[in-house]
Amino acid sequence: MHYGGDYNPEQWPEEVWREDVELMQRAGVTMVSLGIFSWSRIQPAEGEFDFEWLDTVIDLLHEGGIAVDLATATASPPAWAIESYPDMLPRDADGTLFGPGSRQHYAPTSPDYRRLASALVTAIAERYATHPAIVMWHVNNEYGCHLNYDYSDNARDAFRVWLEKKYGTIDALNRAWGTDFWSQRYTSFRQILPPRKAPYSLNPGGMLDFKRFTSDALLECYLMERDIIRAAGATQPITTNFMGAFAPADYFSWAPHLDLITDDNYPDPNDPESFRASAFARDLMRSLKPGVPWMLMEQSTNALNWRPTNAPKAPGQMAALSAQAIGRGADGILFFQWRQSRRGSEKFHSAMVPQAGLETRTWREVTELGAQLKRLPELPREGQDARAALVFDWHNWWAVSNTDHPVAIDYLELVQRWYAAFHRLDVPVDLVRPTDDLSAYDLVVAPELYLITDEGAANLTTFAERGGTLFVTAFSDMVDGDDAFREGGFLVSLRRALGVWLEESGALVPPTRVVGATSAGETASAVGAAGPGQSSATVRTPAGDLRGEFFAEEIHPTTAEVLGEFTDGRTAGMPAFTRNAVGEGRGYYLATIPDAAGTNALAQWLVSELALDPVLPGLPERVEAARRGDLVTVVNHDSAPASVAIRGVDVLTGEPVDGVELGAYGYRFVSVQEES
Ligand code: GAL
Repeated sequence: MHYGGDYNPEQWPEEVWREDVELMQRAGVTMVSLGIFSWSRIQPAEGEFDFEWLDTVIDLLHEGGIAVDLATATASPPAWAIESYPDMLPRDADGTLFGPGSRQHYAPTSPDYRRLASALVTAIAERYATHPAIVMWHVNNEYGCHLNYDYSDNARDAFRVWLEKKYGTIDALNRAWGTDFWSQRYTSFRQILPPRKAPYSLNPGGMLDFKRFTSDALLECYLMERDIIRAAGATQPITTNFMGAFAPADYFSWAPHLDLITDDNYPDPNDPESFRASAFARDLMRSLKPGVPWMLMEQSTNALNWRPTNAPKAPGQMAALSAQAIGRGADGILFFQWRQSRRGSEKFHSAMVPQAGLETRTWREVTELGAQLKRLPELPREGQDARAALVFDWHNWWAVSNTDHPVAIDYLELVQRWYAAFHRLDVPVDLVRPTDDLSAYDLVVAPELYLITDEGAANLTTFAERGGTLFVTAFSDMVDGDDAFREGGFLVSLRRALGVWLEESGALVPPTRVVGATSAGETASAVGAAGPGQSSATVRTPAGDLRGEFFAEEIHPTTAEVLGEFTDGRTAGMPAFTRNAVGEGRGYYLATIPDAAGTNALAQWLVSELALDPVLPGLPERVEAARRGDLVTVVNHDSAPASVAIRGVDVLTGEPVDGVELGAYGYRFVSVQEES
C-alpha cells in the first residue's frame, strides 16, 4: 500500500527538501511522484541537461526511505522549445492557437514535440533506470487533459495517415462516412481535414473517426515513452494517470499497455452525491484491469482551486474517500500535492503540507491516514465478484455525442445514473464493453447503446442465449460501428435478443440540467424541462409507474411480450417495456430513459428478480460496502453516525467485529473470511 503525493521540489530551495523528507517520514509517506512538471529544470536548453538537483532529491528521498514514482516530465514543454519549434503548439477547431505559459500546450502529433520528448525521456530513463529509489515510472501527466482535441496541421497530417491505415483506400473511407451526402466525396486522403469549424454539421463518421484517432494519437505518445523507458533497461512498472471516465481517451483500449492503472479523482465536496460518481470511477479503474490492484494517483487533501467555488472537504471525508478507493481495489493513496505551492495557478490547492502550517486539520488527517495505512496487511487482489455488469463503451459515447440526433443526451450521466442505482443497493457491478467476456454475469445492463458493432451485438446475444438477462434502454442499436444505419430498420443487430423493432424515436423535450465543472466527481441534477412540448412519459412496469425522459419510442414486438405500456402523452397505450425469451435467457427493452427515481426502481426490481446479493444487506442510505476478496470495506459518507451489521475481524486492529458503529465519515476494513 503506497502513500504519498506529487512532489515538486523545484518550487522550493534545497533546505526545504531536507525538511520535506523528514515530514514525509512523519506522515507515513512511502512514495512520491517526482518531476511531473520539471522539464524546464531538467533541460534548460536543447541538448543540455541538468540532473544534479534531481540526483540530490532522489538520493535524499532514498536515504529517507521514500520510494520514487519517477515522471518523464513531458506534459509541459519549456519556453525554449516553443521558441525554437512554435509549430508544436496545438489549435482549437476555430484555428486559434493555444499559447504556452500554462501547461499541455503541445500537439500530441507534432514530430518536434515527439522528438524533444523522446530525447528528454531517453536522458531521464538512461540515468535512473536502475536507481534503487525508483519503483515506478509515471509517463507524462493526464494525457488529453485541458487540450482534449487538437485541430492543428500536425493533427491534420497524422489524421490522414491514421485514416489511410484504417481504410486502405479512399473509396473505403467514402463508403464508411457516406460522403455522397452533401457532396463530401474525397478523391485523396490529402483532402481530409480534422473536423474544424464549418458552416454547419460535420460528417458524423468523420467526427467519430477523429475521436478514435485522438485517443490513438495520445496512446502513441504513451507507448513511445514506455518503449524508451524499457529500452533503457528499466524493469519497474510503467503507468500514466487516468482521469476516471475521460472522453478523449478510450481507457479500455489503453489498459493493456499499462502495467497498472492509476487514477486521479476530485469529487466536489459541495455535491452530497459525489461519492457515488467517485465509486463509479473507482469501479471503472478496477474493471479496466481485473485482478490487478490500481492506485489512486491524485486526490486532494482538502479544497481545490479550479472549480467556480472550492469547498473544503468535511472533517474525515478525505480518509473516507481513500477507504472507498481501497475497498474498490486501490493499492495506493496519493495526493496532488505534497507541499502547497506559494506561487502559480495552484497556490490555493490544498496539499499534504498546507501553507497554513502543521497545526492544521489537514496535516493531522494526513498523518493519521498515513499511520493507519502502514498497519494494513497485504490486501486481496480479487475483485468484487460482481454478478451484474454495466455497459460503458467509449465508441458509443463518442458517437452518441455527435450532433443531429433526435435529442441530445449525456451518455456518461446515464451510465452513472444506473451505476448509482446499484450503488444505493450496494450490489457490485463491473463496467464492461459489449465485446468483453460476459460469462461471469447474470445481468448486463446497456443504457442507450446507440452504436453497436456486429461483434458486440453477437456477444450480448450469446450472453442472453446462455441464460443471461440483458436489459437495454431507449436509443440503442441505432447504428453500426461506422455510425451508419443498418439494413432493415432499427434494433436490427439485437433483434434476436430483444424481439422488438422501432418505428419512431419520439424525442421528448429534455430536462435542463445544472452541471458544474466537468469532472468525474460531478453529477447533474434536473431542474425542469428545457421548453414547451412533452417532456416526459409515464410507463407502467412491474417495478411501478416510472417517469421516462428523452424518448417515448414507438416500438413493436416481434417475439417479445409486453410487460408495460406508456400511460400518457403521444404514445399512451403503446408498448414501453418488453421481455423476450432467447435461448436460456431473456432480453428486456425499455422504450424510454428512466429518470433517476425510475432507474432506482428498475435496478431494485432486477436485483430481486435475479436474487443479486448486496455486499451487506440493509445498509443506511449513505453507507457503502465493497468487497475485495474476503475484505469488506464499509464507509459512511455522511456526517451523521451509522450502524452496520457485519461480522469478521478488523484488519487494522486484529479485533473481532460483530456490528460496527461508524462515526461521521467513518470506515472499517473487515475480513469476513470465517463467514464464507
Ligand atoms: C490534476 C493534475 C495535477 C493538478 C491537479 C489539481 O489534473 O494532474 O497536476 O493540477 O489536477 O487538482
